[in-house]
Amino acid sequence: MSASLAPRSDFPLLAADPGLHYLDSAATSQKPVVVLDAVRAFYTTANANPHRGAYALAARATDQYHEARATIARFVGAADSDGVLFTRGTTEAMNLVASSWGHSNVRAGDEIVVTALEHHANFVPWQQLARATGATLRIVELTPQQTIDLDHLRTLVTTRTKLVAITHVSNAVGAITPLEDAVHIIRARSAAVIVVDGAQAVPHLPVAFDALGIDFYAFSGHKLLGPMGIGCLIGNRAVLESMPPYQFGGDMIEWVRDTDSTWNVLPHKFEAGTPNAADAVGLAAAVRYLDSLGMDRVRTHEVALLELAESRIRTLPGVTVYGPPAAQRSGVLSFSLADVHPHDLATILDQHGVCIRAGHHCAQPLMRRLGVSATARASFYVYSDAADVEALVEALTAAQGIFATAD
Ligand code: ALA
Repeated sequence: MSASLAPRSDFPLLAADPGLHYLDSAATSQKPVVVLDAVRAFYTTANANPHRGAYALAARATDQYHEARATIARFVGAADSDGVLFTRGTTEAMNLVASSWGHSNVRAGDEIVVTALEHHANFVPWQQLARATGATLRIVELTPQQTIDLDHLRTLVTTRTKLVAITHVSNAVGAITPLEDAVHIIRARSAAVIVVDGAQAVPHLPVAFDALGIDFYAFSGHKLLGPMGIGCLIGNRAVLESMPPYQFGGDMIEWVRDTDSTWNVLPHKFEAGTPNAADAVGLAAAVRYLDSLGMDRVRTHEVALLELAESRIRTLPGVTVYGPPAAQRSGVLSFSLADVHPHDLATILDQHGVCIRAGHHCAQPLMRRLGVSATARASFYVYSDAADVEALVEALTAAQGIFATAD
């Protein structure tokens, strides 16, 4: 019996409803009380506008915001915390790179390489950049197990490639990209900037940005026990310093003259306006909580649950599981049952207290390649346990019973 790694009692929403089986953590995670308390403590003991006041309270807000950045930088293995920019999440991070780096560097005739595995947030910004600049978008196809085809990547990356956007972990099927191999292939063939979507990786695997040898890495706080509306773009300092600001406003300037302005240093140059300091502090509390669990143990826990869940649902008639074997996936089980639409399945499961996501998972290029419009997706996290798996299997069995009767 796989117990949860983190006690359910740490998560007020789960503790309040013992009958709830929350299996949609790839969409967003539940929040432990330490995160909720940290956000509340910021507003009740340190609330002032960071970087703007000469009084002690403002200094406390500024210090807490800076400490949050340093804590998060350590967690993701980025020695230069000035290269860790707060954004609203992965989507804003990708749009920042596409807008700032992309429009300054990509020209007609250049090539941008993305993969068919990407979430729309790491696909559409590059597709639209290519359309706006006249560059060509090249799409890396997938293996039969929905992992990135490294041989195809090898053929697509050339000296014309200006940027490669690649996911660390697929949100839709959970496939983990062999990033080291991919980076080696890209670096051997081009001077391309490498942008990695880590939204589904940072919550589930140990990640060390500096060791990856890439230019940009993005993730969202809400998927790793933190608040919604906060995330990070980690960038290589030299590349960030070469880029124009993404947004203009307070705090990102050095001097404003009547006809021109100069920019503040990193990270402020890319953080115009009042920052989301309370949620940054909440995200720092989330990474301390994950650190206390240990990211290696998080990974081991999820693989054990995935293997259990997969072995149990494979006994159901007409089941298809997508993606590579469980040991090569994050905590995601993407599947379909013959003759039951994933949306109907999710609705019936909800009646059993089981929350899963059904749909295209913001990954329509992948769904087209799978030849389906949607899959059902159960996703696990630190508070998931074998009882959640059993509830999933029982609810799926009940759903199959309903559809068999309907026939
Ligand atoms: N990107 C989130 C998911 O995969 C919303 O569900």
